[in-house]
This record gives sequence, C-alpha cells and structure tokens, in this order.
Amino acid sequence: PRWTQLSPLRWVPPQAALAAESDADKVRSLSQVAGVLGSQWGDEGKGKLVDILAKNFDIVARCQGGANAGHTIYNSEGKKFALHLIPSGILNEETMCVIGNGVVIHLPGFFKEIDGLESNGVSCAGRILVSDRAHLLFDFHQTVDGLREAELANSLIGTTKRGIGPCYSNKVNRNGLRVCDLRHMDTFKDKLEVLLRDAAMRFKGFDYDVFFLKEEMERYKRFAEKLEPFITDTVYFMNKSIQERKGVLVEGGQATMLDIDFGTYPFVTSSSPSAGGICTGLGISPRSIGDLIGVVKAYTTRVGSGPFPTELLGKTGDTLRMAGMEFGTVTGRPRRCGWLDLVALKYCCQINGFSSLNLTKLDVLSGFLEIKLGVSYHKPGGERVESLPADLELLEQIQVKYEVLPGWESDISSVRNYKDLPQAARNYVERIEEIVGVPIHYIGVGPGRDALIFK
Ligand code: GTP
Repeated sequence: PRWTQLSPLRWVPPQAALAAESDADKVRSLSQVAGVLGSQWGDEGKGKLVDILAKNFDIVARCQGGANAGHTIYNSEGKKFALHLIPSGILNEETMCVIGNGVVIHLPGFFKEIDGLESNGVSCAGRILVSDRAHLLFDFHQTVDGLREAELANSLIGTTKRGIGPCYSNKVNRNGLRVCDLRHMDTFKDKLEVLLRDAAMRFKGFDYDVFFLKEEMERYKRFAEKLEPFITDTVYFMNKSIQERKGVLVEGGQATMLDIDFGTYPFVTSSSPSAGGICTGLGISPRSIGDLIGVVKAYTTRVGSGPFPTELLGKTGDTLRMAGMEFGTVTGRPRRCGWLDLVALKYCCQINGFSSLNLTKLDVLSGFLEIKLGVSYHKPGGERVESLPADLELLEQIQVKYEVLPGWESDISSVRNYKDLPQAARNYVERIEEIVGVPIHYIGVGPGRDALIFK
C-alpha cells in the first residue's frame, strides 16, 4: 500500500475497572484517548455517558465552549447535578478534570459550581486543572451578549446570553484576557479597560466608570489568588499524560450542528464542538485520538432560532416535548422537537468519523403508534440534496422524505439487555445503524446512570 493505517494507541482498561457491578456497568474497551461529542443541536444527553465512561479513564477534559453547556447527571444515590463548566468526570473520585485552552471561563460561575459540588460532598480540591491559555469571560461579556441579541431583534441567534460569543470575539480579535494574565495584575487593568472601552464605544446601552473598573480589579485580584492552585500548562500536562499512557476522555459541549464552521451558521455557537475542536482546544495531536462516540437523541430537538427540517409544530411535537421533558436546563425554554433527521446525522458522522453512537432517550418514543425517520432532503421541485446544505435559504425550503416505522407500546425504561427491547424498538435502532453506517453501542432508556443498554 502507498500509505499505512494510523492506529490509535489501544488502551485496555484495568481488569478491576472492568469487573462490572451490574450489566449496566459493563464498559466497552475504548482507545486511550476517546471523545464523546454531540451530533445534533445539543442536549443529547452527553453528560450521562461521560459520567458512566469516566470511571475507566484517568482524565476527563473539556476542550471548547463555556458555561453554556448544561449537563445533567445523577450520582449513584440518584442525586441530581447540573454541571456547566466543570467536566462530568468530577463525580468519579479517581478522575482528574481538565478545562482546556479552548474553553472560556467565567470565574464567578466556576467558583460557584465548585462550592455547589463541595457542599454536596463532591471533593474538587486538586482534581481540576485549568489551562493557563484559556480565555477569561467577564460579566461585561454577558451584558454585551444581551445587547447584541436585542440589537438583532427579529433575527435573534438565540444564545444563552452567557457571554460566550462576545468572549470568543475578543479571543479572535486578539485582545482577550487569558488565565495566565491573572499573574500580571499590573497590566491586567489596562487590558481590561481596553475591552470595556471597546464595548462602550460599540453599544449605546453599555457604560462603565472608574469605580466599576476599580471594583472589578479588586474582585479579580481575589479570583487570581483563588485560582492559582488550579492553573496549569494543560498542553504539557495532556501530552505528558498521553505519553504515560493515561486514559483521556474528552467531553464535548454543544454539538456539530452548532459548530461555528459546520453548523447552521449563523445560528451556531462560537466554538468547534466537533472532532477538530479536541485538537485545537487541548493541544493534542489528531493522531492520538482513537474512538469518537457521537451522542444522538432518538428524535431531534433544538433550542433557539435557525432551520430545523424535521421540526414537528403540532400535537406530535408537543407530545415529544412533554414526554422527553424538553425544557432547557439553564433557561427553562421549551425546546423545539421533531423526528430524527438522518441526513443531518450522517453529515455529523462524516465530519467526526464517529466509531460508534449512543442513542439516548429511546424510552421517550414508547407509546407512539408510528415513528418517522427523516431519510432524504429534497428541493421544492423534488431534486434530491445529498448532504446538509450550507445555504440556509435552501435549508428552510427543504422537504424531508420520511420512512415510517411501527412504534411500540410498552415502557422500556427498565430494560437492560438489548434482546429484551420490543422488536419494533430494535427495528428502529437497527434501521438507524443501517442508514448512517455507524454502530449504536449504547442506548439510553432513562435519565438514571443505570438506564443504559450496552449493545
Ligand atoms: P449540552 O452539553 O448542553 O448539549 O447537554 P447534554 O448533551 O449533556 O444534555 P444533558 O446531559 O443535560 O441531558 C439532557 C437531559 O436528558 C437530562 O435531563 C438527562 O437526565 C436526560 N437524559 C439523558 N439520557 C436519557 C435517556 O436515555 N432517557 C431519558 N428519559 N432522559 C435522558
């Protein structure tokens, strides 16, 4: 052959970790460096899989986004935790959590999240490493986010108003402040003032004065001291750990359909939630990454604006919303619901090269007489569109062809073995695998940690 296959470093988890406590604790052997990424418009349930897999990895790392992720996970006692910035691996005592250079950090939120975890008995000390290259997200970024959305009026992007977009804008403008700048408080003030002045010039509704700046500096001096034990050269740490054959699990936030490059631009997030973001957001080589697991809900949801070809605007959509409790974890906003879009899923599988999928919330589809799968896109004249179009005007007009599959009546939330699922549910799973060409290895049948079928 003219080229040789690059083989990832296979990592065989220690036997102790493989000694399953129950069927649901069985974990497949994964590569040394693996990733869990969203393959729709977010909220697929990535947090639960990361939490389950984390016990077999030494490190769980976040590579992009900020506190706009809203993972909801339950610990072994059924206690609910909503995590925004801190990796879901934090619930596993042995796991080290890394917040990589690609993440934007709101320090007040970061410390609040740590306090919440500590007060619920989760020890964080010495278990969280924050990249010295990560960018700082200030309260003023959140104000600017709101002002930007207000300015866009009818064409709202539908951001979470957590300041993520404005912070990444500063990063790309090359005037952002990074974690390492906290070590130079003398120049920090000038740099912060440049950002505030820029925002005040740009937005009529934004103002600041010397007192505000002074107070902000006092706050950040305190944060700088508090953050010092967490600050790490995570690029060095990650590469050294990989060399030492430590297991690394990367936890994606948001999803490929919200990717700044591949998503439904401009209704996207400001980072790269797809596979490329792992390399740029952690400083590790693509050659070190092996398995990539795409998380996909058994139907589709989307928060905020933007095209959504398989959206169900009537009663069926409302039923899905209620059955799946599709309301934002951060904002409580009702999510838009629709059938599973396999054209979009195939597109995400191509971009990320998923080695397997985790189909979540299959339990929500119980009780539907029939279930539809969006299998092809067509222009209004009938001409087939092979992949997800970049042109949103075209995407808005797309007509979706569906395959209709029979549903199943019974509640599947207590099923733990694939063969015990109703035949119609298995047909649904297998038809998805057949069309997208990627195996489904994990099936979620409930929110709990144990409600997972290993296929
Ligand atoms: P983002 O990073 O913000 O995209 O979120 P996420 O993908 O991590 O989603 P999250 O973990 O918040 O999961 C969404 C919701 O689905 C949570 O309330 C989970 O408890 C719930 N959930 C996850 N898997 C399942 C499942 O298989 N069935 C049911 N019924 N609920 C599930």
